[in-house]
Amino acid sequence: MMDRSNWISAFLMLWLIICVGSSPFSVVVHMSSKVGLPAVLPCSVASHLEFDQTPHIQWHTLSYSVFERMGPEQFQGEAYRDRADVPEELLVRGNCSLFLQDVRFSDAGIYDSYLVYGESNIKNRIFIQSVHLAVIDHKAIKSVEIGADLILDLYTYQAEQVIFQNSNETDWTVLWEKDGVINKKGHLKKRDNKLILSRVTASSAGTYKILDSEGLALSTVKVKVTEPVLTKETETLQKQSALGKATMSMPSLNLIALFLTFNLMLQMN
Ligand SMILES: *[C@@H]1O[C@H](CO)[C@@H](O)[C@H](O)[C@H]1NC(C)=O
Ligand SMILES: *[C@@H]1O[C@H](CO)[C@@H](O)[C@H](O)[C@H]1NC(C)=O
Repeated sequence: MMDRSNWISAFLMLWLIICVGSSPFSVVVHMSSKVGLPAVLPCSVASHLEFDQTPHIQWHTLSYSVFERMGPEQFQGEAYRDRADVPEELLVRGNCSLFLQDVRFSDAGIYDSYLVYGESNIKNRIFIQSVHLAVIDHKAIKSVEIGADLILDLYTYQAEQVIFQNSNETDWTVLWEKDGVINKKGHLKKRDNKLILSRVTASSAGTYKILDSEGLALSTVKVKVTEPVLTKETETLQKQSALGKATMSMPSLNLIALFLTFNLMLQMN
């Protein structure tokens, strides 16, 4: 038989499990970001701020330290150098969201945030938030008119190579490389992290892939090439110029006829 105090402690234990289980902090937030873009991993310590006047926050993955901030002092993990931050002005208001720049495929995974408190020799930490980050590639379908420019967004400095597969073929050809050695088609330019393929022809139709250093596709663009669409104005202009040509040629025909008759008359004489 359980005595009264055992019942109470069992009840308290159950209550604690229910509370912890339903606490918003124990829920994993799932989010996804496109590769090369920034991502904000949510976190809030507003309800814990009484533990510490200047919050000390840590973000970890299962195996690595990502970012740590204690007031103006900060630490960035090796793989997150110059890419991770918990802005101080947001943290003082209890917003401990992790800002990642130029997201990479290797960033995918689970991130946990902790609030660190206590004196310098006895530190404790409270788990705050788990975020599952998925990193996805870019996909697009584009339609370009013959003679127009095709613009491919490279998105990130991770872009190392652009390969192309003609609609008809199975082989891939390298169109562009970061080192700038390969540029098979002379009309390929890079500007503002975009590749510009000028004067598109029917044979430019196909699939373009932008690859990172591991050979993973950051972006896949399927390109259709269409005939230029004639607007009413250009059609009438073309008709007019065709008519113009016809009337222009009339006098010259007449001149030839005149010349021929003149020759004929001379021969007859
Ligand atoms: C924290 O700040 C970011 C950026 O301003 C914002 O998107 C987010 O909603 C904020 N989170 C909280 C919990 O206030
Ligand atoms: C595909 O092949 C056909 C015939 O083999 C050719 O006429 C056509 O121009 C090719 N299309 C492209 C986009 O190269």
